[in-house]
Amino acid sequence: MSPVSVAIDGPAGAGKSTVAKLVAERLKFLYIDTGAMYRAVAYLCVRENVDCSDTSAVDELVKVHDFRFEEGRDLGLIVYVDDQDVTAYLRSPDVSERVSLVAALPEVRSRLTQWQRAFAKTHSVVMDGRDIGTVVLPNATVKVFLTANVEERARRRQKEYQERGFDVSLVEIIDSMTQRDKLDSERELAPLTSAPDAVHIDSTGKPIDVVVDEIMRLVENAHVR
Ligand code: DC
Repeated sequence: MSPVSVAIDGPAGAGKSTVAKLVAERLKFLYIDTGAMYRAVAYLCVRENVDCSDTSAVDELVKVHDFRFEEGRDLGLIVYVDDQDVTAYLRSPDVSERVSLVAALPEVRSRLTQWQRAFAKTHSVVMDGRDIGTVVLPNATVKVFLTANVEERARRRQKEYQERGFDVSLVEIIDSMTQRDKLDSERELAPLTSAPDAVHIDSTGKPIDVVVDEIMRLVENAHVR
């Protein structure tokens, strides 16, 4: 049987990764957090002091360094750059601030899209991001566009930061999130947008399990279980 794919797109903090992980766990599929791939490139820019909007410098970084992605114990991706595990650095405010810039670069997108498609060719996957249903896997078995209002998304992101030891105010998060969503939605290439055949789920005020159940029903209705 050919691999099955569940695409989950939506803005920052909509709960995509939490939900995608749980769906992948239930289905015993591989969970691919494509944001982590873009974050790995942004992390490298920060580390090497490269301007994230300098197309040729960033392309060069992606070319000369070796990126490797492995499934971790908690189902998230472990990201290695030149055999160094950099996963712990990917969600820092420094990286979050710059990642939209690298995500707008055509060479970066095309390389990462190839890596993402390669995973989906060999494994059944739950993949989350911004362009999975539209660009990466246009023939995904199930497509979901997950949203939530900005206050709730910002509160979730603040909690994530706090758990990682970063103290960032809600106002700052709403500001940077709104700015990032704007950049992601307005960029020319593979912008954040819903595929016409995606099912929209608004997770505002909804317990995670309810959202997971909704997606599981979509998968069941697609006759893949
Ligand atoms: O989901 P996240 O916050 O980890 O995503 C980080 C950034 O990468 C965000 O600015 C959007 C971008 N991104 C993208 O452009 N395409 C994807 N498939 C995944 C993430």
